[in-house]
Amino acid sequence: MESSRGKWSSKAGFIIAASGSAVGLGNIWKYPYIAGENGGAAFTFVYLICIAVVGLPILLSEFVIGRKTQLSPVGAFEKLVPKTKWKFIGYLGVASAFVILSFYGVIGGWTIKYTYLAISTGFENLSGNPEAAGEVFNAFTTSTWNPLFWHLIFMSLTVWIIVNGIKGGIEKWSKIMMPMIVIILILLVVRGLTLPGGMKGVEFLFSPKFSELTPQSIVLALGHSFFTISLGMGTMITYGSYLGREQNLLKSGVIVIGVDTAIALLAGIAIFTAVFALGADPAGGPGLIFTVLPTIFPKIPGGHMWASLFFFVLFMAALTSAISMLEVVTAYFVDQKGWSRSKATLIFGGVITVVGGFSSLSLGGFSDITIFGMNFFAFLDGVSSKYMLPIGGLLIAVFIVYRWGLPKFLDEIMEGHTGHRPSAMVVKVIFIIAAAVVFFIIVNEIVQAITGSSIIG
Ligand code: PHE
Repeated sequence: MESSRGKWSSKAGFIIAASGSAVGLGNIWKYPYIAGENGGAAFTFVYLICIAVVGLPILLSEFVIGRKTQLSPVGAFEKLVPKTKWKFIGYLGVASAFVILSFYGVIGGWTIKYTYLAISTGFENLSGNPEAAGEVFNAFTTSTWNPLFWHLIFMSLTVWIIVNGIKGGIEKWSKIMMPMIVIILILLVVRGLTLPGGMKGVEFLFSPKFSELTPQSIVLALGHSFFTISLGMGTMITYGSYLGREQNLLKSGVIVIGVDTAIALLAGIAIFTAVFALGADPAGGPGLIFTVLPTIFPKIPGGHMWASLFFFVLFMAALTSAISMLEVVTAYFVDQKGWSRSKATLIFGGVITVVGGFSSLSLGGFSDITIFGMNFFAFLDGVSSKYMLPIGGLLIAVFIVYRWGLPKFLDEIMEGHTGHRPSAMVVKVIFIIAAAVVFFIIVNEIVQAITGSSIIG
């Protein structure tokens, strides 16, 4: 049974695949624009603390649960604590994967479209003209068929990789795309730093003005740290379930977080050096990379090539994350329902593509249909990143400390680990701090959704 589930071919294979899941639109699209809107360095500073304090313990918990049980989330909780309600965390994870992929895949489609536009036009027509770039972006994302076409291509690639399994799909393609992402981003950073005035962008990202730290930026930083490391929906449980006992989980977790953070910072540098060198607006919001960058690239020497490379990186990053979401859904049907990998992937990849189609349409033709005042796309995004992932992560931390027990968690961490056994007391304190912070953020979100004002201002 176990061998038919698949396994990573090497220690590095797992680390690269898990980093591929973590590095995605969250790093290259979301982080730069939320940092840009929240005081740059001030946001970066809080984000780094959140990643270390909250991100690492929950990431390790997911690895531990996956490797210990060799099962995807629902089966994993059932195996650890049979016949209890804890497997709800697993179902929540499968649901989150479904929901997130339903809008993530749409943006994935946009990344292919923009790669195509970059290669074919170099954005020459948009040079220095944010209005025109905004119009192109709006016209595209609100139209009916064009985004659906690119969405379908993106989802087909996602499905195809997952049908090919752990070694032959996820690991193989992560090993091809991750090094390309790193190399191209470094080239883009060097290009940005050598632009006259580019250093101002680096200053913006890294010299914190603490007066700019608002309570709201702290909430955002925490929510983002979940999303960017793919936590709270069992992705890392699922990836951990294909691991052998020799893997050093602590070391792997630190590397994955390090790679994820490094890529976000590199993307931030690549983007803000160009933005500042050419006097564009750093607080461009969600459209920053789709409406601001295309106006800048044509003015940079070699801009046609840099634009093409940038959007290609964005596409690859989105794809290595999207596959990890579909894998959570596929693994559930393989482990719990005994379906074949291709059947599970084709059926549910298809269903998610159709639901994603609706989220794409909700930006244009169907924008009148709203849920809690939001279009379907914004609803899926909001409900997953504000509630589903943090609740999933919180429950995982609570499960480890209060239900399963830290000694068992540490036993599993020690497999493949050569150093000292960490003190259970210290680990417990860290988990409690992490859980308390996440709990507070969730409560704050709920209060804000109901009353319209946040507890912390
Ligand atoms: N971590 C991915 C990103 O940064 C998104 C993601 C979230 C992937 C949850 C899997 C699970 O884009």
